[in-house]
Amino acid sequence: MKTSGNTILVTGGGTGIGRALAHAWHDAGNVVIVTGRTLASLEETVAGREGLHAMVLDVTDPAAIAAFAAQVVARFPALNVLVNNAGIMRYEEIGTARDLGDAQAMITTNLLGPIRMTDALVDHLAGQADAAIVNVSSGLAFVPLVIAPTYNATKAALHSYTQSLRVALAGKVEVIELAPPGVQTDITPGQATREGYLPLATYIAQTMDLFAQVPTPAEVCVPNTLFLRNAEREGRYEQTFAMLNRL
Ligand SMILES: NC(=O)c1ccc[n+]([C@@H]2O[C@H](COP(=O)([O-])OP(=O)(O)OC[C@H]3O[C@@H](n4cnc5c(N)ncnc54)[C@H](OP(=O)(O)O)[C@@H]3O)[C@@H](O)[C@H]2O)c1
Repeated sequence: MKTSGNTILVTGGGTGIGRALAHAWHDAGNVVIVTGRTLASLEETVAGREGLHAMVLDVTDPAAIAAFAAQVVARFPALNVLVNNAGIMRYEEIGTARDLGDAQAMITTNLLGPIRMTDALVDHLAGQADAAIVNVSSGLAFVPLVIAPTYNATKAALHSYTQSLRVALAGKVEVIELAPPGVQTDITPGQATREGYLPLATYIAQTMDLFAQVPTPAEVCVPNTLFLRNAEREGRYEQTFAMLNRL
């Protein structure tokens, strides 16, 4: 992926990792469009920055995605990068029967969201020079956190989907997986200050260094992520699973 001169759409760009990536890519000389459900946080993201644009979109709404895709391509015909970053994480007790609303919401947002966004924009992207799709998975795609079972599963599924997409789009669109480790954001209550999680600025600096490599790694994994990503291939899966889950 080029480091500058792109037109990049970042879903979930109103807060957290999406907002910080949008700012870093904007600083590097890219036009960036941020989307999310909350106009106020999107407006905060773009405030005072020319070439950074806010558009409301709920990635769980297929009709809204279709309308948005037509609108964004008309307004930004140079759009060449889609970053599927919007996501939600809920802890779940799965040992007894429960309301499956959280499970359904995570699957619809974290898995169907990127699938639908990709479908809506893939034909446009395939016609662009230097096109890329960046899917934001998680270190938890590789070693599950027991208290977040459906979340882990959506990210493992997105990892799998991304591998197939990479082959399907070879030669037309570069497909990159961005797998963050635990990062201090508000994705779960209290996480923005949780010890042991990477400060957001540190995570973004490490990530932008990896995006500066030529070619861009197919999987953008900072050192904290590699601890999880490589657990199985390095023969320490059981220990890593036990350590992550304090078993
Ligand atoms: N922080 C971590 O430790 C960590 C680790 C691994 C992976 N990740 C992944 O990184 C991505 C960003 O997470 P984050 O930590 O930056 O959390 P965050 O601050 O909560 O950001 C998530 C963003 O997604 C947006 N969003 C949620 N549901 C949406 C929907 N239906 N339609 C459109 N936008 C929606 C939210 O905005 P609205 O609510 O305004 O829509 C929010 O801006 C997620 O995919 C997450 O799974 C995070």
